[in-house]
Amino acid sequence: MPFGFIQDALVQREQGGLLRGVKTVTQQQQGLIQIDDKYLINFAGNDYLGLSQDQDVLQSYTEGLAAFGASSTASPVVCGYHHQHRALESRLAELTQQSSAMLFSSGFAANQAICQALAKPFPNSRHSLGVVSDKLMHASFVEAAMSYAQGYYRFAHNQPNNAQKFIDNNQHEHYLIASEGVFSMDGDCAPVSGLLALKARKNEICVMLDQAHAIGVIGKEGCGLEDPQQYDDIDIVMGTFGKSLGTQGAFVAGSSDLILYLQNFARHYVYSTALCPAIAKATDTALTKMMTGAFRASLHENIETFRRLSVANDIEVSESYSAIQPIILSGSTSVIKASEFLSDLGVLVGAIRTPTVPKNAERLRITLSASHSKKDIESLIDALCILRDKMKLEYGFRERCI
Ligand SMILES: Cc1ncc(COP(=O)(O)O)c(C=O)c1O
Repeated sequence: MPFGFIQDALVQREQGGLLRGVKTVTQQQQGLIQIDDKYLINFAGNDYLGLSQDQDVLQSYTEGLAAFGASSTASPVVCGYHHQHRALESRLAELTQQSSAMLFSSGFAANQAICQALAKPFPNSRHSLGVVSDKLMHASFVEAAMSYAQGYYRFAHNQPNNAQKFIDNNQHEHYLIASEGVFSMDGDCAPVSGLLALKARKNEICVMLDQAHAIGVIGKEGCGLEDPQQYDDIDIVMGTFGKSLGTQGAFVAGSSDLILYLQNFARHYVYSTALCPAIAKATDTALTKMMTGAFRASLHENIETFRRLSVANDIEVSESYSAIQPIILSGSTSVIKASEFLSDLGVLVGAIRTPTVPKNAERLRITLSASHSKKDIESLIDALCILRDKMKLEYGFRERCI
């Protein structure tokens, strides 16, 4: 075919051991997943509270489909905005202590929309936005900041002081400081008070937090922050439904003006079919269940069990107390072989390589869920020990190969 670069790019990825592919899932339930006729205990998904299978969430989904149909059928600014959307938005605004919220069909779109609308609301807009984000922000944000912002600067992971120098050394009129409440590949938390302190030195600074992996996992009622009062000073909160809430879609919350502005200028909102109203209804039910605490208690018990058993078995764990527990192996070949070996032992974990994580920080991304049993976690630990012994592996931040 024309476009020979397609072939070149694929060959290059394959040679570097970095070619990605999709796996076909035939069913999943209760922490178990079936891929190609093989049953595996699933430690790779983001269903941290197990709500994607919850009977009440499924019931709401079904009722929503019966009441509103299979699609919103239009952009929210045409006729795709239903009362289910409004109801969910007001609960999300309340959870994150913001005045207003709006829904998107995906977190990727939400992050894109924030950067696009703040940096380039329309093609000839003239103001200058500098985006300063943690180096480990998710690709959906990084891509957007690189595409839209007049200047994009990445500070050393979790070091807000390093962000200050980008603000001091540049001349943008406005700065958006962004980080993640819980980092998607590392599971550690952002130093929120340090980020908020950056606002003290300049007026034109907004702080944004991507709470995709924090909501449902951290803080009172799963609000995403250990200290919910910090929301008072955060200007933009973004969160997703495809993780703890077990559905799909995303939200952005902030001041009423910010939300009205995004509804007017965010192209990913205006020119896209609104989130399916049945999903909004199911997410509303998931939110109620998420806030009760029982699911979060089970998740944290599982996190504690995993960490305790890891330490007891000399498996190096990171500074993560969230559902994401990475084990660093280093080397894309190592990490792929390790995940295939684990899969043969009946355990599914994510094999994360560059460009998702830096070179030599390739990892097994283990995710825990309230739907795992203690036996599931013991099986995971057994599998990790067998992997280490048979493959002569050491876990940790060193260069390894199998
Ligand atoms: C931190 C973070 N932000 C945004 C997204 C994008 O969310 P979605 O999957 O809803 O597009 C993800 C998805 O993995 C994420 O991890």
